[in-house]
Amino acid sequence: MIRVRVPATSANVGAGFDALGLAVGMYNVVEFSPCDRLEISTSDGTKVPTGSSNLVYRAAKAVYDQVDRPFTGLRMVQTNTIPMARGLGSSSACIVAGILGANALLGGPLTRRQMLTLATAIEGHPDNVAPAMLGGFVTSAFDEGQVYSVKKDIREDLVFGAFVPNFKLLTEQARQALPGTVSHKDAVYNLSRAALATAAFCDGEYDLLHVATKDALHQKYRLPLIPGGTEVFELALDLGAYAVYLSGAGPTIMAVLHRSDERFFARAAECLAQDDALKAFTLHRLLPDNTGAVVE
Ligand code: HSE
Repeated sequence: MIRVRVPATSANVGAGFDALGLAVGMYNVVEFSPCDRLEISTSDGTKVPTGSSNLVYRAAKAVYDQVDRPFTGLRMVQTNTIPMARGLGSSSACIVAGILGANALLGGPLTRRQMLTLATAIEGHPDNVAPAMLGGFVTSAFDEGQVYSVKKDIREDLVFGAFVPNFKLLTEQARQALPGTVSHKDAVYNLSRAALATAAFCDGEYDLLHVATKDALHQKYRLPLIPGGTEVFELALDLGAYAVYLSGAGPTIMAVLHRSDERFFARAAECLAQDDALKAFTLHRLLPDNTGAVVE
């Protein structure tokens, strides 16, 4: 039996649309064992497709196809801790688990770069799949069918506050809210901040993160789809977060904090409970994950 554990991920990190992502300590696990047919179940009662539309299966099957090996069956047991359609990379975790599990079962025919490129082709962009596979803070570009990524460890003195609402927002819907074209000014606004955010995260220049995670390309178009989202941004900044950004396509809102900041979590939880507009959100304290997906 092969067990694959994959972390949740938070993409974009403000200005780094489809390019930046980081891994946090919340995990999906999939156990794979040989079987003469496709058998899919969950250990935790979450509902997942049990046929050929299952994302872990589709990713696993893509590995068999890529290396030209016949797929004869597989038993998969999924434990899905990462909430679905909340902007924490649940679909990327499934894709990475399927690819790593199948690759291990087949004796490791694909390199990490090949697996990352396959995962990106399935997901459509690399900013979740890359940190899901590699852990840490990952900068990626997709060029002529290949993914190029650099992973840096997230500094251990950071912690993340994920405000996860009780409603879903599908990435597809959140991408449809975006304009087809953007101005040169907005493009420059974002590329300068994405570059600054990468350097600031790596060097521990946390005072720069507020400016470095501002965005002109997606957040303002998506926040209207998230009731209470603007209020959560304001709350987290008021309580002293270094930075606040929409995690991936949302609806989760991510605050970046110093690891010693316990007061933030206590105060924010009180405010969520007291304000009707914010009751839909639950705050999770998530540590950085610098390991990425693990095959056991
Ligand atoms: N970069 C992607 C987006 C992440 O913002 O749409 C969500 O999959």
